[in-house]
Amino acid sequence: MKTRRPQAYAVVLVALAVLSSCQTGPARYLDTTLTVDQRIDDLLGRLTLEEKIGMVSGETWMETRAVARLGVPALKTNDGPLGVRYWSLDSRTKPAGFGTTAFPAGVAMAATWDQELVEREGKAIAEQARALGRNMLLGPTVNIARLPQWGRNFEGYGEDPYLAARMAVAYIKGVQSEGVIATVKHFAANNQEFERNRVDVRVSERALNEIYFPAFRASIREANVGSVMSSYNKVNGVWAAENPYLLTDVLRTQFGFKGLVVSDWASTHTTVETANAGLDVEMPGAESLKGLLNEPVFVKAGFMGGFMAPEKLLPAVTSGQVAQSTIDEKVRRILWVMFTLGIFDRREEPTNVVDTPEQQAVAREAAVESMVLLKNAGAVLPFSIDRLRSIAVIGPNAAVARTGGGGSSLVEPKIVPVPPLEALKARVGPRVQVGYALGCAMAGEDKEKDTPAARAALIKEAVALARKSDAAVIFAGYSADTEQEMTDRTLALPAGQDDLIQAVSRANRRTVVVLYAGGPVLMDPWLPQVPAVLVAWYPGQEAGTAPVTVLFGDANPSGRLPVTFIKAWKDSAAYPNYPGENLTVNYAEGIYVGYRHADKHNIEPLFPFGHGLSYTTFEYSDLKVSPAEVGASQPVTVSLSVKNAGSVAGAEVVQIYVADRESSLDRPVKELKAFGRVMLEPGETRSVTFTLNRDAMSFYDDTKKDWVAEPGVFEVYAGSSSRDIRLKGSFTLAGK
Ligand code: GLC
Repeated sequence: MKTRRPQAYAVVLVALAVLSSCQTGPARYLDTTLTVDQRIDDLLGRLTLEEKIGMVSGETWMETRAVARLGVPALKTNDGPLGVRYWSLDSRTKPAGFGTTAFPAGVAMAATWDQELVEREGKAIAEQARALGRNMLLGPTVNIARLPQWGRNFEGYGEDPYLAARMAVAYIKGVQSEGVIATVKHFAANNQEFERNRVDVRVSERALNEIYFPAFRASIREANVGSVMSSYNKVNGVWAAENPYLLTDVLRTQFGFKGLVVSDWASTHTTVETANAGLDVEMPGAESLKGLLNEPVFVKAGFMGGFMAPEKLLPAVTSGQVAQSTIDEKVRRILWVMFTLGIFDRREEPTNVVDTPEQQAVAREAAVESMVLLKNAGAVLPFSIDRLRSIAVIGPNAAVARTGGGGSSLVEPKIVPVPPLEALKARVGPRVQVGYALGCAMAGEDKEKDTPAARAALIKEAVALARKSDAAVIFAGYSADTEQEMTDRTLALPAGQDDLIQAVSRANRRTVVVLYAGGPVLMDPWLPQVPAVLVAWYPGQEAGTAPVTVLFGDANPSGRLPVTFIKAWKDSAAYPNYPGENLTVNYAEGIYVGYRHADKHNIEPLFPFGHGLSYTTFEYSDLKVSPAEVGASQPVTVSLSVKNAGSVAGAEVVQIYVADRESSLDRPVKELKAFGRVMLEPGETRSVTFTLNRDAMSFYDDTKKDWVAEPGVFEVYAGSSSRDIRLKGSFTLAGK
């Protein structure tokens, strides 16, 4: 006779659960002299099954369930990577006057190449999360800029895995130094917004390990990140939120991750598979999703969720489909993060003090440092107000402060950000006549100004102003509606801006273009006749003052591109496979993303990865690579001298690229493996030193399923960009 095992099994299980939760005796979990694991073991023995199951999914849109009986706090999450964003479901219902410090976009922070600054940014954001009683920040975003028009490139750290990893580690250290959980996201291969909730990304194990995983691996191994957020998409046929390869084999077994995996919001599709694959916390709470999942916008986007809600998960456990030990493991990870970051042992005392002068200063410093001067023909910049009687300020981003891209990362600044026009007027003072012309309405704004006739009139007005001015500055680019989450953007500027720039730059040969963008922009219609181009990215609350500071030489631009600016869409590695077919996107380019692709196929970029001009010049000399031959575990030291050969102080970002000249698998022409910012006074020379370890020589061999560093010659390039290589050296890895 077939035994009725499931019911009997369930009865035993429930009985065990009740018994196990009756652990009594002194509350050892409260004893801070014990190890974290000892405290967890004790607490696990006291929590009932229902309490544990309540902890692994959200109770509300942004919070999990506390267990007041035992003093277990809720996870109180908030977005986002660029500052504390109000955490209600609908940010339109935020309390009056809510606002925090709006920091520059992630890509702008990457453009600083300044790890120390990024760490201070993370700390400044976490201070504000704590001040508001929050304990889990949903940042950083580290997804690689594979697709030049990805709607969220602005949020991430660009196209290079090494640079993205350094930025992520710095940011996470800053955030977690304040006892706030950082959440590195979105794991994995979330690199386009087109059908992001549905696409199946087909990507090789080598490309995952060499391009898409490094920032996550470094976040875990070097910054001890508390949380990883799984992405919406599938990876090689399996939803990321229920992907055993990603969530268990890679994160746990390979990377040694001890923290928790949280789902992206409404990105789950099953109960049993999701629980067994390794997701630890499903967000948002099922209750908060009720009524939403049937809304057209949710249905159209493919949002799904609520599968690990107690009413679904408990039956899966009692039926034996999900082992209780699996639930215990999830709760162990949540508690590990809470104990490790001090969240369990502290009582939140929200001060509501945000956007302090110190936090504002970090945002300002970052915004200025992130500016990238792409072109400066004839040294048109910096402007000197002694030589300017009038200046035309033009464009859809002149009178509006474009602080950030759109979506879950967009922070409401507490202060009213100063738009570029006002910042420029304040900078030049009454002696210089400042004229303003919109020139072209931002796509989607000012509908009545978006007709052909209106556009022609606006351009005509701008040209007339430019013609009679000593110089013209066009503040162009995108907005939070034309560059945002949930949609990929155009590579060309929004409608009408190319025409405007062409017309104005013909009328005034001292025309400067300032671009608000989160990534590459096509400039071929007007670049030849525009002498200077400055990329402002999205500078946060200093959207107006930061570019003006650079335009007038109050700061010497030192930003460097974290993404390749391509000449044409067809030059991108993603071009043949975007947006994919039948919801499958094939990352056929493998590891050849960004400059790796351009180098391999000899494609001339418009502006290369790592590029950025200064108001001074730098000279490199005395490159030394030692020892000339190393064993497998020996580091290589690279040193060189950098001189400020100009007349103004400035910071240079020295980039070290490594080329493996003899390898069993094809490898990129060169790869960034070290970098450093060095501030130099005019005439000053300084020696800079870098260490290359085995990681700098290794590649992922997906036949061996491991990283290998093969003996042979490695070339070392010291450059001011990936295409401006100043000095070359080499070393040999012994073993042949
Ligand atoms: C969004 C984003 C994620 C964000 C989360 C909560 O869909 O993908 O980055 O943290 O939902 O707002």
